[in-house]
Amino acid sequence: MLKFAIIGFGGLGKVHFNCVPTVTEAHPDIKLVAVCDIEPKAFETQTETNLGANDTKLDFTGLNLYHSPEELFEKEELDFVISALPTYEHSRIAVMALNKGIHVFSEKPMARTLEQGREMIDAAKKNNKVLMIGQCLRYMHPYQIAKEYIDNGKYGKVVRADFYRLSMFPVWGWNNWYSNDDWSGGAVLDLHVHDVDFINWAFGRPKSVKTTVTNFKGKHDTVSTDYEYDGVTVTAMADWSLPDVYPFTRAFRIHFEQAVLELNSEGLILYTETGEKEVIATNGLSPYANEMIDFVQCIKENRWSTINNPDTAYQTIEIVLAEKISGDEKRSVNL
Ligand SMILES: NC(=O)c1ccc[n+]([C@@H]2O[C@H](COP(=O)([O-])OP(=O)(O)OC[C@H]3O[C@@H](n4cnc5c(N)ncnc54)[C@H](O)[C@@H]3O)[C@@H](O)[C@H]2O)c1
Repeated sequence: MLKFAIIGFGGLGKVHFNCVPTVTEAHPDIKLVAVCDIEPKAFETQTETNLGANDTKLDFTGLNLYHSPEELFEKEELDFVISALPTYEHSRIAVMALNKGIHVFSEKPMARTLEQGREMIDAAKKNNKVLMIGQCLRYMHPYQIAKEYIDNGKYGKVVRADFYRLSMFPVWGWNNWYSNDDWSGGAVLDLHVHDVDFINWAFGRPKSVKTTVTNFKGKHDTVSTDYEYDGVTVTAMADWSLPDVYPFTRAFRIHFEQAVLELNSEGLILYTETGEKEVIATNGLSPYANEMIDFVQCIKENRWSTINNPDTAYQTIEIVLAEKISGDEKRSVNL
């Protein structure tokens, strides 16, 4: 039996908690034994985020609850942890767990700085443990289909690709940590990192980035970037300073030589040069459950993920942090 705990029981910690039954169906030999959050109120109700509300009653039967990761590690024998802490805490807790011989799944973005990301990778390697970062688009069906078409050239080469991510400000964050750029990295590192990770996965490392940022309600709360590649135009934009009533939106348009693949509010749509419009069925499976299923499989096989390894998560924050410099200094930054 692989015993595990969730550390950080806010918005994303609860998303992972709510996925435990699905993950346990795929891996019946895992057992959630504890949940840890510094804030007692975190255990009282579900947290409503930009992904929506979940009104399932929280049930902690058979679980031990802790208020400090140090006490959790001292009292429990754990095989792995799911860490959904504010970004500035990712590396400290991941390194602590890895050094205790515990495998770590840690939410995106990998870390606030490159140094912190490197420490996480070094600790995983030194202790021969699995480390995975929650870059969940790699486990989300519309994005998986897009990646497949890019790789297999079914509709020709990509001419241009544009990605969008729009949200209200994450007001649910503990102690308003999202509003502090030193803690969250703003919308550039926090929200936009999803699309940057997809771009990194599908197109590889760009040669350079040219970014515009806006400091509207806070630092870097809107971003748009041109990524330089040979032979293809790729852009992405994100904004988390929209009114609370604005619906959370993830979208893309990928223009291939013979078709356009678009994710929009209608779903995943393919428009072909031969005049057809097809709504592509997607499986609707939770990317959060899917990534955990892969993570547990990696632990069982004592290897890093072939879909989402921490070296690529590190490259992703390298690109994002270059975008922050590009935006601040109003110039292209080479990678
Ligand atoms: N994958 C996704 O789609 C996605 C979506 C939203 C957020 N996230 C990421 O998940 C992480 C958490 O975000 P969130 O929205 O859940 O934030 P949150 O503020 O809602 O939750 C963080 C929780 O950690 C607790 N905490 C803070 N410091 C602690 C410590 N030292 N020990 C124990 N508990 C501590 C807080 O009390 C809070 O409950 C962030 O890195 C964020 O970027 C990922």
